[in-house]
Amino acid sequence: MAVNFVRPKIPKLASDPWAIQFDSEGRLRHLLTIEGLGPEWVTRILDTAENFMSVTDREVKKVPLLRGRTVVNLFFESSTRTRTTFELAAKRLSADVLNLNISTSAATKGESLLDTLRNIEAMQADMFVVRHDKSGAAHFIARHVAPHVSVLNAGDGRHAHPTQALLDVFTIRRIKGDFTPLRVAIVGDILHSRVARSQIHALNTLNTGEVRVIAPRTLLPADVEKLGVRVFHDMREGLRDVDVVIMLRLQRERMEGGLLPTEQEFFRLYGLTEEKLALARPDAIVMHPGPANRGVEIDSRVADGPQSVILQQVSNGIAVRMAVMALCMARRSEDNA
Ligand code: NCD
Repeated sequence: MAVNFVRPKIPKLASDPWAIQFDSEGRLRHLLTIEGLGPEWVTRILDTAENFMSVTDREVKKVPLLRGRTVVNLFFESSTRTRTTFELAAKRLSADVLNLNISTSAATKGESLLDTLRNIEAMQADMFVVRHDKSGAAHFIARHVAPHVSVLNAGDGRHAHPTQALLDVFTIRRIKGDFTPLRVAIVGDILHSRVARSQIHALNTLNTGEVRVIAPRTLLPADVEKLGVRVFHDMREGLRDVDVVIMLRLQRERMEGGLLPTEQEFFRLYGLTEEKLALARPDAIVMHPGPANRGVEIDSRVADGPQSVILQQVSNGIAVRMAVMALCMARRSEDNA
């Protein structure tokens, strides 16, 4: 399979706080956040993922692009879907993969993040996939790794989850095509959601017609409008005529208490039921990054219903993660050529 690695030329300001994602030649090195990627790179990643979809359909699901490279999954916070799809993506690119669940090892013994990092670097890793409960952890690691190492953010605190947002826009693009006429609603716990933040940036980067957020005031960040969204507190109003409904999990573990009435009350007001979904366009799709809490933010009949693309999101996540890994490692192959 041919993967086209011609990179888009985009002007880059030295003062850009996201410039760290690119090397001195303007090539993608780390993926930490959607901000600063611009439509060219987002589209490049989605197009590359589209190429990788055919690998996933083959009987032998492997290409040799990352043969001889070592990818280390550094998970300081638990995860199933994201970690396993990153692992599968790396394996389908023929990399060696190491899974480190730090929450149950070094960190609990008091080792500092930098020490953990130095030790893993000493094992000749080429790429770190990092999940951490503190916002900014992946940036911190990216600033401290050796020049040949790439860092992919697999979710940092409430800040960003760029590969999730990329697989979401990839899924939307495969079904709906062009973003400019679309209305997309993101519903639920926006305040604690790194997924929502990254999705909003990705959707706006791709010029989505209208991005809506639907949530109670207590679950919205201050100044959320500044991210380029239209805010609704009434779900029935917000869902009217949308093409895509993205449900979010209530992030109980990040809540300080008092933000919510009961879960039953939340479900009554903001849970997605067949009756509320009927207000969206008839061909609207329903998405959820998982893990979904049935009966809290989404009814089972909708989660398993004909408009749900939740499982497609998971499969697409493998191709999108393969694309990001391959593009970040392409600069290494270019340098060695
Ligand atoms: C999300 C996460 O961990 O940020 N899940 C995921 O990556 N699939 C969303 C969530 O936990 O609710």
